[in-house]
Amino acid sequence: MYGHLALASSVLLAVLTQHANAVDKTRDPSLDTNLATAATQLDRLALLGNDDAWLFDFTAQEPNYNFAPGGVVNMNAATFPAAKGNGMTMAMLNLGPCSMLPPHYHPRASNYVVAIHGNTTTYMYEENGARLVTETLTPGMATIFPQASMHMMVNNGCENAQLVSALNSDDAGTQNIGNVFSNGFPAELVNAAFGQDLASSDVASKMTPVGTGSNWGLSECLKQCGIQANGTYIRF
Ligand SMILES: *[C@@H]1O[C@H](CO)[C@@H](O)[C@H](O)[C@H]1NC(C)=O
Ligand SMILES: *[C@@H]1O[C@H](CO)[C@@H](O)[C@H](O)[C@H]1NC(C)=O
Repeated sequence: MYGHLALASSVLLAVLTQHANAVDKTRDPSLDTNLATAATQLDRLALLGNDDAWLFDFTAQEPNYNFAPGGVVNMNAATFPAAKGNGMTMAMLNLGPCSMLPPHYHPRASNYVVAIHGNTTTYMYEENGARLVTETLTPGMATIFPQASMHMMVNNGCENAQLVSALNSDDAGTQNIGNVFSNGFPAELVNAAFGQDLASSDVASKMTPVGTGSNWGLSECLKQCGIQANGTYIRF
């Protein structure tokens, strides 16, 4: 379904825009406000008076909808006002070959994830003292990341992987864990907390930006698949 040609054509877009969309921007704040304060659902229907207001096209959400390296597209209160007040987010997770979602958590939602394409391994860790839960998701297989659990996932294959994600908040939020090295916490205190020198301005400057939500994975995997980490194909 997602050939290498389609993937290759998305490379340029991804390269051009990879830093462009760190977090969801609220598309229509005044509409969200009016929906939140409307007295009835019929009032909300009137505010969403055009049928277009009820249609969301995941594939049109640029730059996040790509497979090089990939991205997370959220249908939520920010990106789709009709979702406001329904208590849910639906997300499409696109992972190019070897690509991953870095360790992160959602502060306000549990997260159900089902695989549609590809072969993806998930890792989930709920809290101090918990055990690591690992699953491999092939089409039709699903797992759950409870609210605020830390999780990550990686596409094991050289084909694109795609998963659909449901979250029980229309504003689930996402916190990438690597931010602790780049979010302004004093490096010397972070290092004191971790008992070793991990944080520095150099580390902060090299921290993968949130970008579209996905990033390239292991270099051995990329090599096996014939992909350079800048998205250029070595063969195919
Ligand atoms: C998925 O990938 C893993 C890791 O490479 C592999 O062990 C497993 O056999 C794959 N599963 C399927 C159904 O291909
Ligand atoms: C990608 O990286 C390879 C190897 O590092 C390099 O030869 C190539 O020119 C790079 N391509 C782009 C578009 O930056």
